[in-house]
Amino acid sequence: MLGISIKGQVGIVTGAGSAYGIGRSMVIALAQAGAKAIYACDLNLGGIASLQDVVKSLGLECIVEGRQLDVASEEQTVAILKEILKCHGRFDFFIANAGYAVYRSLETLNQEHFMRAVEVMQKGPYLSVKYGSQAMMVTSAEKPKPSGSIIITSSCAAFAGAYADLAYTAVKKACNGIVESGSVQLSASNIRVNGIGPGCTKSSILTSSQLAERGEAYQLEASDEEIAKTHAKFFERGGLFNDQQKYYNRTAEPDEIAYLAAFLTSDMAAAINGQIILADSGKTVAATGEGFTGPVTAVSPMNFA
Ligand SMILES: NC(=O)c1ccc[n+]([C@@H]2O[C@H](COP(=O)([O-])OP(=O)(O)OC[C@H]3O[C@@H](n4cnc5c(N)ncnc54)[C@H](O)[C@@H]3O)[C@@H](O)[C@H]2O)c1
Repeated sequence: MLGISIKGQVGIVTGAGSAYGIGRSMVIALAQAGAKAIYACDLNLGGIASLQDVVKSLGLECIVEGRQLDVASEEQTVAILKEILKCHGRFDFFIANAGYAVYRSLETLNQEHFMRAVEVMQKGPYLSVKYGSQAMMVTSAEKPKPSGSIIITSSCAAFAGAYADLAYTAVKKACNGIVESGSVQLSASNIRVNGIGPGCTKSSILTSSQLAERGEAYQLEASDEEIAKTHAKFFERGGLFNDQQKYYNRTAEPDEIAYLAAFLTSDMAAAINGQIILADSGKTVAATGEGFTGPVTAVSPMNFA
């Protein structure tokens, strides 16, 4: 059977502290793929205990460590990488996934908002490439050759202007540049750099972003129901519930994005480098809906009599 394996590997997933989100699902998927230890880093560590329980309940041996981290901090990022190397003697994957999305009009968006978005969602991924790669070059008896995989969570907003506000769109587009340039800069180091562009994915992002933007440790009090209500309201506003027959109007579960991260981390994706894979169920390419094509209906089943 074909299976994704990253057996024995050690790495970081940022933005993995929320109780319902892509980072959390990435930790579970990477643990299922055989990771030995994953450092789940976030400003909000509220979901870590239950994440550890889930991994244990699946019978996985992966060690999940929660760490407080502001991804905008060079000092904190380097400190965690050094801690991992001291403890495990290896570092194999860095999933730079932390982010937030506060929707502001151009009129209300100010310089501080813009620069914080740059710090978190542009500088954060840069730090993952800059220092994650150095950690991946460390060899040991368990890992005799340098290697690694860096994955940056970009967004569908990097591919179209109407998904988000100006700051978010700009920094997610920058993520794509970091992936492309990073893959070239690390081409002599046996380290791949790829990006994932999720489309509308159910998560706590729309509930937690105002808090996350402050850059301080926080706890999210919202219940699962409140989180679901908030993203449902937002998806409705985006027109996703208008024509449910269309595949591109579906919303994704965080797991669907996480499986892609597990695949890209593994050697099964050895030929994929410097790419940003849009996982949006086809929404971006369907941007104009049926305006130009005319009605798109389901094809008729083949008559195989
Ligand atoms: N959910 C979607 O529809 C969607 C679509 C496109 C892209 N994304 C991207 O996916 C990634 C994960 O988001 P999610 O939807 O799973 O939301 P989420 O809120 O569940 O997870 C994001 C996490 O990032 C953390 N974070 C924010 N700023 C941080 C910082 N400075 N340092 C450390 N952690 C920080 C938050 O505390 C939060 O726990 C983000 O980068 C987001 O931009 C999400």
